[in-house]
Amino acid sequence: MTPSLLALPGNEDFTHRLSGLLSANIGRLETRRFPDGESYVRFVSEVRGQSVVLVCTLDRPDEKCLTLLFAAQAARELGATRIGLIAPYLGYMRQDKRFQPGEAITSSTFAYLLSSVVDWIVTVDPHLHRRTSMSEIYSIPSAVCHAAPKLSAWIREHVSDALVIGPDAESEQWVRAVAADAGAPCITLEKTRRGDREVEIRFPDLERWRDRRAVLVDDIISSGRTMEVAIRKLGERGFPASICLGIHGLFAENAFERLLAAGASNIVSSNTVGHRSNEVDVSDIVAKAVPPLLK
Ligand code: R5P
Repeated sequence: MTPSLLALPGNEDFTHRLSGLLSANIGRLETRRFPDGESYVRFVSEVRGQSVVLVCTLDRPDEKCLTLLFAAQAARELGATRIGLIAPYLGYMRQDKRFQPGEAITSSTFAYLLSSVVDWIVTVDPHLHRRTSMSEIYSIPSAVCHAAPKLSAWIREHVSDALVIGPDAESEQWVRAVAADAGAPCITLEKTRRGDREVEIRFPDLERWRDRRAVLVDDIISSGRTMEVAIRKLGERGFPASICLGIHGLFAENAFERLLAAGASNIVSSNTVGHRSNEVDVSDIVAKAVPPLLK
């Protein structure tokens, strides 16, 4: 069945790309806020008897989630046969255990809320910290798309003398794969996070890479501190301006400007989160993951 795609606010461009790739219709969803901040949601186009796909990237999830839950539940009540969610970026993945007594395990509760209103979910490179798969957190069918080949292609096309740098041991395996596919050497740093906005980074010896252009590769650029500290340290070691390449560019608290101020020459992200740094289009890999979930 051809699905009907519905863009939550801010997801129009990604939805438009998907509609071309999936030969799917785009339905109309009206959303707005009442003066006191509550959400209003109305399906303008018919959803009865349709397989509905809501497209809603979930950076800044607190601002978006209620509208999404209302839309999904309304689609069900209005007779949609199946309801899927494409969340190119899926938030609330970090807190997957109780580090301190009394903490909420928000990744589980968030997954529970989404799983209770949609039938399936597709996302791109979720940050599965201590989990190995989405099914450990989400009870509904899910598909995970991997943007690494797209990052490699970007490097191949734009940087002939790249040294790919991964920020920490956790990222080593996939950053090495990005580098190998880009035909570039790779090193990883040692990162210690001291707080939400504070990281310490230790570099290995870089002497043999002096003629290379540093390309810092990470799955998420959130506060930007990881890349900011790395860029400054590379500058102190006499490297030319570094390139920042991230799958999900969240750029919290003017992180984009701080990275430029630290000396980044280019800051590039994928379009999982709409931003002016988007140079890597992942809509095709997302589109490929959808058809099996519609059955
Ligand atoms: C860490 O686990 C991730 O791979 C990223 O390195 C991290 O999310 C980046 O965060 P920030 O931009 O806040 O330093």
